[in-house]
Amino acid sequence: MISLPLLAIALFPFALAAHQPGAGVVHAPIVRRSHSNRVANLPKAVEALRKKYGYQVTNVKSTNSKRGNIAAIPITDEDNDSSYSGVVSIGTPPQNFNLVLDTGSSDLWVATTSCTSCGSDVPEFQTSKSSTYKATSSVLGINYGSGSAQGTVAQDSVTFGSFEMSQEFLAVTNVSTGLIGDGLSGIMGLGFASISSLQTTPFWEALYNANNLSEPLFSFYLERYVNQANQISAAPGGVLTLGGTNSSLYNGSIEYIDLTGPPSYWLLTVSSVTVQGKTITIGGPSGLAAIDTGTTLIGAPTPYAASIWAQVPGSMELSGDWQGLYAFPCDTNVTVHISFGGTNWAISPLDMNLGTLNNTIIGNANATSQMCAGGIFDIGIGSTPAWIVGDTFLKNVYSVFRASPPAVGFAQLASGSNSSTGSSDPNPVQVTGLTPLPTSTCASSSGSSKSGSTNSGSPSPINNIALSLTLLASVAGCFTLFL
Ligand SMILES: *[C@@H]1O[C@H](CO)[C@@H](O)[C@H](O)[C@H]1NC(C)=O
Ligand SMILES: *[C@@H]1O[C@H](CO)[C@@H](O)[C@H](O)[C@H]1NC(C)=O
Ligand SMILES: *[C@@H]1O[C@H](CO)[C@@H](O)[C@H](O)[C@H]1NC(C)=O
Ligand SMILES: *[C@@H]1O[C@H](CO)[C@@H](O)[C@H](O)[C@H]1NC(C)=O
Ligand SMILES: *[C@@H]1O[C@H](CO)[C@@H](O)[C@H](O)[C@H]1NC(C)=O
Ligand SMILES: *[C@@H]1O[C@H](CO)[C@@H](O)[C@H](O)[C@H]1NC(C)=O
Ligand SMILES: *[C@@H]1O[C@H](CO)[C@@H](O)[C@H](O)[C@H]1NC(C)=O
Ligand SMILES: *[C@@H]1O[C@H](CO)[C@@H](O)[C@H](O)[C@H]1NC(C)=O
Ligand SMILES: *[C@@H]1O[C@H](CO)[C@@H](O)[C@H](O)[C@H]1NC(C)=O
Repeated sequence: MISLPLLAIALFPFALAAHQPGAGVVHAPIVRRSHSNRVANLPKAVEALRKKYGYQVTNVKSTNSKRGNIAAIPITDEDNDSSYSGVVSIGTPPQNFNLVLDTGSSDLWVATTSCTSCGSDVPEFQTSKSSTYKATSSVLGINYGSGSAQGTVAQDSVTFGSFEMSQEFLAVTNVSTGLIGDGLSGIMGLGFASISSLQTTPFWEALYNANNLSEPLFSFYLERYVNQANQISAAPGGVLTLGGTNSSLYNGSIEYIDLTGPPSYWLLTVSSVTVQGKTITIGGPSGLAAIDTGTTLIGAPTPYAASIWAQVPGSMELSGDWQGLYAFPCDTNVTVHISFGGTNWAISPLDMNLGTLNNTIIGNANATSQMCAGGIFDIGIGSTPAWIVGDTFLKNVYSVFRASPPAVGFAQLASGSNSSTGSSDPNPVQVTGLTPLPTSTCASSSGSSKSGSTNSGSPSPINNIALSLTLLASVAGCFTLFL
């Protein structure tokens, strides 16, 4: 997920340190809108992404889980890889929803039928039809870069995979026009409790704490459709294995890298990035990266984004609404590898190419060669974490998020997706050539107004600034989110 706090990034540490119940830092995703154009929406998505990450955090107990269960949860690929969702059931009897699976946030969020602004294409939770629903008196306001949402902190029975338990979540009652839609109803946060806006232990982590997972981890296989010629609004998109790994989905061994710092986001350190054969050494605080299934692209700090694209002849930084994004000649295969201290993992050039840009965007209406938008963008400098490594990378590996010992592991996909040319695409979907995307203007809104969360009973001043946007899918952001 992508997003950023509007202005409160630097203040989040206070909120966390104070343990104020009202410190509602909500990482809300922005769900995609139907059939918006991905490339056209990129500027909005990037803007929202820049705001997402603002603080690092505290601690999470680690215990060893030896017994319990494992669940294979089918994933849906939304809009050409802009986000990945899974079915979550809420209430008694259970009502099913497609929620974005987001390792970059730690709260569960769902639209309810009390939400008149959520849109007709958003399946909504009918709280009155659940015999186990319990609302609290706490109301939390969430601001997005492009809008806002409010909801009630509630508790109900939640089923995800084969696991069922009572879970606290945000029952959303109001969102800005167009904030969610296209069949997605909210987010399932898969980060650690220390960054939960609701200050609640996330579903997966509660299972882990209860020793209910066969192994203290969950694993993702994400499929690729970005290179598909036909429009894909939803398609089978992989598997989330909760409580284990599935050895039929990866080849060889899983290389685990210890988390950098205490668990909060799933943080690793980018040690190097290799582009067109040229290696750029990174490491240290400037390499701190959130491994984020909820973010569509890869966000790199300004100087690294520049040096990465400097290796691609003919590439250029875009400006205006497109600032932060880079364009490159569409006939170039952009070959990138990323290392977090171990293997140099290859990213398929298919994932680096987001589609053709209208020549007016590149400032040359008469250009004869097509320029395409790239999968690595400039997220700015000074944010923590400095990098956001999203689906553009994660589609290329089998990824394992391990609570104990805290680590993220990667393995080669079973079908041999290590190809750096995309010629051995692990995705079963047929690869067809890129077609120029129609461009349209992303509906713009300057929604970065701030407004505080209004959690009851907490007069702390942080209520006024505790807002964080989590743009789910970066790219999707606009497509998704925009409002
Ligand atoms: C592992 O993945 C394969 C291929 O998707 C699937 O057929 C199998 O059922 C999975 N096994 C488990 C235990 O989930
Ligand atoms: C966790 O494990 C306990 C003991 O085996 C079991 O009673 C409970 O139903 C499990 N909870 C979940 C959510 O699976
Ligand atoms: C719903 O949210 C919008 C902004 O997103 C706000 O203007 C409006 O007042 C809210 N409505 C209610 C009933 O809270
Ligand atoms: C998916 O990609 C195809 C081909 O690039 C494009 O035609 C289609 O509009 C895209 N769909 C969305 C929702 O962006
Ligand atoms: C490119 O964008 C301009 C301005 O929005 C528009 O007039 C033009 O028709 C577009 N060109 C193509 C090929 O879509
Ligand atoms: C594009 O071509 C038109 C017609 O030949 C010309 O008038 C215009 O100056 C050109 N624009 C650029 C940016 O080269
Ligand atoms: C696994 O990797 C080995 C060597 O890297 C390769 O020969 C084999 O084809 C791979 N198997 C699968 C199922 O991808
Ligand atoms: C992919 O895997 C094969 C087999 O392990 C190996 O020979 C090849 O060098 C790998 N390619 C890349 C780009 O890592
Ligand atoms: C890019 O990669 C594709 C697939 O491997 C290949 O067919 C094509 O020739 C490559 N293009 C260039 C310019 O290298």
